[in-house]
Amino acid sequence: MLVSEPTEITEQSVATAVDGALFAISEVANAADLKAVRSAHTGESSPLARLNGMLRDVPNDQKAALGKLVGQARGRVNAAFAAREAEVLVAEENARLESESIDVTAVGSRWRAGARHPLSLLMEQMSDTFIGMGWEIAEGPELENEWFNFDAMNFDEDHPARAMQDTFFIDPVDSHLVLRTHTSPVQIRSLLDRPLPVYVVAPGRVFRTDELDATHTPVFHQIEGLAIDKGLTMAHLRGTLEHLARAMFGEDAQIRLRPNYFPFTEPSAEMDVWQPHAKGGARWVEWGGCGMVNTNILRAAGIDPDVYQGFAFGMGIERTLQFRNDMNDMRDMVEGDVRFSQQFGMVV
Ligand code: DAH
Repeated sequence: MLVSEPTEITEQSVATAVDGALFAISEVANAADLKAVRSAHTGESSPLARLNGMLRDVPNDQKAALGKLVGQARGRVNAAFAAREAEVLVAEENARLESESIDVTAVGSRWRAGARHPLSLLMEQMSDTFIGMGWEIAEGPELENEWFNFDAMNFDEDHPARAMQDTFFIDPVDSHLVLRTHTSPVQIRSLLDRPLPVYVVAPGRVFRTDELDATHTPVFHQIEGLAIDKGLTMAHLRGTLEHLARAMFGEDAQIRLRPNYFPFTEPSAEMDVWQPHAKGGARWVEWGGCGMVNTNILRAAGIDPDVYQGFAFGMGIERTLQFRNDMNDMRDMVEGDVRFSQQFGMVV
């Protein structure tokens, strides 16, 4: 910044310094300018500071007059800075407010709310039915020991039943880990973990080597039930499943049991449900497997089958949703399109 260098204190030299400062102040546009101009015109090596310094050397009889001259000059310049500073701050504040202004009339962008997945809702609804009867929720790992998934469930080493379920084996094979093919291993885990009597349901994810198509998915859900107590009979199994069927399909729903084979139950049955309000008219639908817990399972868990007996059942959640809601394509359930979930209500 170019400023003239005064050599002595005269009215002229003081006026030049003041005019130079006032002109520079009038040109200030922002806080950064202001700082630079202030330093050039009032800082240590500014003309006014030099003039002030020269007061030390003026003869005593002129000190008062020249002191007053320089003092007033500095006063004017400082006042001009203060005034300009206030203007600059207001202007900057206004510019900031303007740049941050919000158009309160603009159309907002809306968050699409999600919805809980119908499979979760269904699983919860089924679990709640059992909680209402005093049962507990049990859990087991999805990455399961082969022993829990098969051996403890009474599948023999080379029993053809082992091939009933297409299993994902985990590398290395001698880790003996599988992605559980059903929720049934939670039965044996519950018996090992819990004091008797045991009344548990285990909802959860299971895995089989199926291709995804309209009726299959390699990852799906089941809910397992297990009751072990003194004196339980097939009548208790029937009554329990009938209660579940009514909770899910209405008071006039019914169930029927047809003989079947599962290694972990004896006798075993396939359960069908009478769905009175199906879209295409009332019908029997295959719903799940069940039976009286095989005494081998009880023995594997260290339970005396002469004292305790019980029943077990298991059904697929996807399949239940499919026939309950007349869904033709399983793929809709796994694709995660929120419009699919929204049809089932916005339950959070
Ligand atoms: N675990 C069987 C499956 O995935 C279903 C099943 C059948 C579970 C009978 C049971 C049962 O508890 O008693 O096919």
